[in-house]
Amino acid sequence: MPVPEPSPVPLRLVRRGEIVVLAHVAPDRTLLELLRETLCRTSVKEGCASGDCGACTVAVGEIGPDGALRTQAVNSCIRLAHSVDGMAVWTAEDLASADGALHPAQSALLACHGSQCGFCTPGFVMSLFVLHQQQGGADVSRDEALHALSGNLCRCTGYRPILQAAMDMKKWSWSASENDVTLQQLKLLQTQPRPTPAVAAERFYALPTTLAEALAWRAAQPEALVVAGATDVGLWITKQQRRFTRILDIGRVAELRRLARRDGWLSVGAAVSLTEAFAALAEDRPQLAPFFERFAGRPVRASGTLGGNVANGSPIGDSMPLLIALGARLVLGSARGQRELAIEDFYLGYRQTALAPDELLLSIEVPLPRPGEWLRADKISKRREDDISAVCLAIWLEVVDGVVRAARVGAGGVAPVPARAHRTEAALLGQPCEGATFEAAARVLGAEFEPLSDMRASSGYRRQVLGQLLRRAHAQRQTGLALDTLAPIAVAPEPRA
Ligand SMILES: Cc1cc2nc3c(=O)[nH]c(=O)nc-3n(C[C@H](O)[C@H](O)[C@H](O)COP(=O)(O)OP(=O)(O)OC[C@H]3O[C@@H](n4cnc5c(N)ncnc54)[C@H](O)[C@@H]3O)c2cc1C
Ligand code: FES
Ligand code: FES
Repeated sequence: MPVPEPSPVPLRLVRRGEIVVLAHVAPDRTLLELLRETLCRTSVKEGCASGDCGACTVAVGEIGPDGALRTQAVNSCIRLAHSVDGMAVWTAEDLASADGALHPAQSALLACHGSQCGFCTPGFVMSLFVLHQQQGGADVSRDEALHALSGNLCRCTGYRPILQAAMDMKKWSWSASENDVTLQQLKLLQTQPRPTPAVAAERFYALPTTLAEALAWRAAQPEALVVAGATDVGLWITKQQRRFTRILDIGRVAELRRLARRDGWLSVGAAVSLTEAFAALAEDRPQLAPFFERFAGRPVRASGTLGGNVANGSPIGDSMPLLIALGARLVLGSARGQRELAIEDFYLGYRQTALAPDELLLSIEVPLPRPGEWLRADKISKRREDDISAVCLAIWLEVVDGVVRAARVGAGGVAPVPARAHRTEAALLGQPCEGATFEAAARVLGAEFEPLSDMRASSGYRRQVLGQLLRRAHAQRQTGLALDTLAPIAVAPEPRA
């Protein structure tokens, strides 16, 4: 690999209560590379280098909107180093107290025999550390432990002792005084804004904090790579070995990190994390919570953004079928002004979007729930969590007096772009909301798209499963049972070629 070109702007972070300043960090250097190679934090392991295994998990901390320290677990292998400028970073080496006492996450793993070969262990320790920080050392249920560890894989110990360790952390006392020191240092860094690189620079990592600044960068450097959480972009660097010398990170733009409800709409800023965006969407529509838990794992949802999912334009992205079904609109902006369009009109072809070279996605506008609305979203993937969809289907209906008065159906994994199933919607519209209608619509849906065969699923499987998802949604509507409790989807075997 060629020697990385340094960035002229130094990177500042807080470690163990001290500010560390690092010069000459290349714009596309990952946090994992920085921690292992520059700071010699070799507890941070590289397993998959794609956000899948959790061996590289570290904790990052920033000042939350309430002024308190907010800690998140992230995958350092796909996180860009400069994105943590002004933040605190912890690795497994940083947890023991000054007198050598282990952190409860470490003591509990030790006591519960939660480690064998140990390769995954620092990553588990960091996820448990974040859970401990977030819970303030209080009781942890098995469910909470499962969710907190959803981004960590262990290939030899087995999960029972690790989950036990999560639930046992409360047995060890821990003083949170180090958090106060970290918070003070973060506040100090806040008073020393990061220097802005020259707009015409050949290599830079721009981290604007206002929309005006971000749009000016975009206009001046339309070729620069736009990055939000880098959970897609990080893989272009680690897996495709691509190099980027000019990066515009929109993750700190205050206007893009806003969530607001007004005039019947939920407005989600493009740089709002998936964690926060999903929490807001599930607050309005609680039935979506299980669907969101199946999107990646917790560290990816902490770094990744809703705007990044939408702008990336993958035909197998999970939020777009849902947003299509909800009737979401996108606000795009440039220094020239703003415009709005329906989300399905944003996708022009395989990974092609309506974004002009000087534009950014600013926000995703989602209508708030209406009386009589009925909504289901489900995805089919090989693994329950932390896996991309083979097929994703979201159905939104407005039912008045037992008749379907409005219908929107979004589908993923069935076309080169996230798609709206217009013919299926027509089959539902004006019909009684009953089994025969869903059966007829399921047959239309099964024939509406011509999906590809790939390693995730064959074309025939995708067509069949689409119809089955619609039938299943109706079964759930009738019984009121959670999707998880229904019988598995049956798909007839395909004839061998
Ligand atoms: C382990 C793992 C599991 C995953 N699981 C899922 C899953 O279950 N479902 C799923 O759908 N996805 C999944 N993903 C993909 C990824 O997490 C999502 O697509 C995420 O939402 C991307 O957001 P980001 O902020 O990280 O985007 P980035 O990687 O920063 O950017 C993605 C693209 O969007 C562009 N972009 C970002 N923000 C803007 C903006 N405001 N304006 C213009 N362009 C912009 C970037 O230039 C880039 O082209 C997974 C990824 C990993 C690593
Ligand atoms: S190395 Fe596997 S998630 Fe980072
Ligand atoms: S202890 Fe070996 S992979 Fe987890």
